[in-house]
Amino acid sequence: MKVLIVGSGGREHAIAWSVSKSPKVDKIYCAPGNAGIAELAECVDIGAMEFEKLADFAQEKAIDLTIIGMDDPLVGGVVDVFEARGLKVFGPRKNAAILEGSKAFSKDLMKKYNIPTAAYENFDDPEKALEYLRTEARFPIVLKADGLALGKGVLICQDLKEAEDGVKEIMEDKKFGNAGNTMVIEEFMTGREVSVLSFVDGKTIRTMTSAQDHKRAQDGDQGLNTGGMGTFSPSPFYTEEVDEFCRKYVYQPTVDAMAAEGRPFKGIIFFGLMLTPDGPKVLEYNARFGDPEAQVVLPRMKNDIIEVMEACVNGTLDQIDLQFEDNAAVCVVLASDGYPVKYEKGIPMYGFENFKGKDGYYCFHAGTKLKDGQIVTNGGRVLGITATGKDLKEARKMPMKPQSGSHLQINICAMILVRQLMKHK
Ligand code: AMP
Ligand code: GLY
Repeated sequence: MKVLIVGSGGREHAIAWSVSKSPKVDKIYCAPGNAGIAELAECVDIGAMEFEKLADFAQEKAIDLTIIGMDDPLVGGVVDVFEARGLKVFGPRKNAAILEGSKAFSKDLMKKYNIPTAAYENFDDPEKALEYLRTEARFPIVLKADGLALGKGVLICQDLKEAEDGVKEIMEDKKFGNAGNTMVIEEFMTGREVSVLSFVDGKTIRTMTSAQDHKRAQDGDQGLNTGGMGTFSPSPFYTEEVDEFCRKYVYQPTVDAMAAEGRPFKGIIFFGLMLTPDGPKVLEYNARFGDPEAQVVLPRMKNDIIEVMEACVNGTLDQIDLQFEDNAAVCVVLASDGYPVKYEKGIPMYGFENFKGKDGYYCFHAGTKLKDGQIVTNGGRVLGITATGKDLKEARKMPMKPQSGSHLQINICAMILVRQLMKHK
């Protein structure tokens, strides 16, 4: 098989690694990819939003399966473009990717189908939003831009003043662009956050092992919210009781709801859950693997990812027994100084040979590129270092013996960050 992966982050590197293990696969392409992905795949210089060019490429190379890693192309309808040309593609169509693309849609869906989530109201008029905040709201309260906003469109407001400023930011100043044309105002929930990713074929759902991510930059949770500074899997808070509850009230009901709405979902549903004192509730849905959740979940998956993805596309997921290793994984993101606001690119990096051929270690590239044969930084999140172990404690302790001074930095960084990650959870 020839496989094309669309995306350029750590998640796509983890997907490429998983695909490279499949005995069915002869050749992997990635558009646009990065320096780490380039070791497993031929990277092609086509952007993730260039749908027609991507489909031209898939046709030209007779690609057997295209895997869309990122949210933007999914929400923009890349799958529909591929399907219209008879090309096999893994991911939800535009009318199903709206589950992530519009928070107002997903909240209405949950309300209609009694899927547990925070109480909310949707607004497309800032005046009405302000009136609601002044008359009915209880603080803290949560404001969410409706559309995609790189994980940054959520504001937790402690009082009316903050909320008024938030409405201005989202709906009037359009800080998140058109994502803020509509806004969700939501009840503030407390509890542990857990993520569960799943494969879905339109009617059947197979959940993966649980994970937790670490959202804020800086030590001691002092920094801004990010796409995710690290992850671990499984989550010790995802008990059998929680799993049972979510199977009954969240997972299958979501898949059934989408089918009932005429929007059958095929691909990955990422359930962001809050374990509140009143039971698990859905914080958000994503229509793709998490980044960096994929970096801890995929190394623990026993199945051939291609078989599972083909089953999703073909509607035969009920025949798949999804299995995970009885171990644990921790991923630490090494980010550019200044991320998520402003940072330099193009800084050379060394020491990658340390990770080669080492069992239980993975060095997933997020924002890197090759410049004159040298790997340099090319983004805010640069690398995701994953280690597996028999349990979380062992995974986070996995020491890498530095082979020389120049290698020290990356190893020590990863180890220190792993410890911090665990301490703060
Ligand atoms: P989201 O993009 O919806 O996952 O929101 C980003 C983060 O904001 C979540 O991971 C939570 O930490 C926080 N958050 C979102 N909604 C709520 C809520 N209703 N109550 C408390 N925290 C929330
Ligand atoms: N790490 C959270 C996400 O991928 O949305």
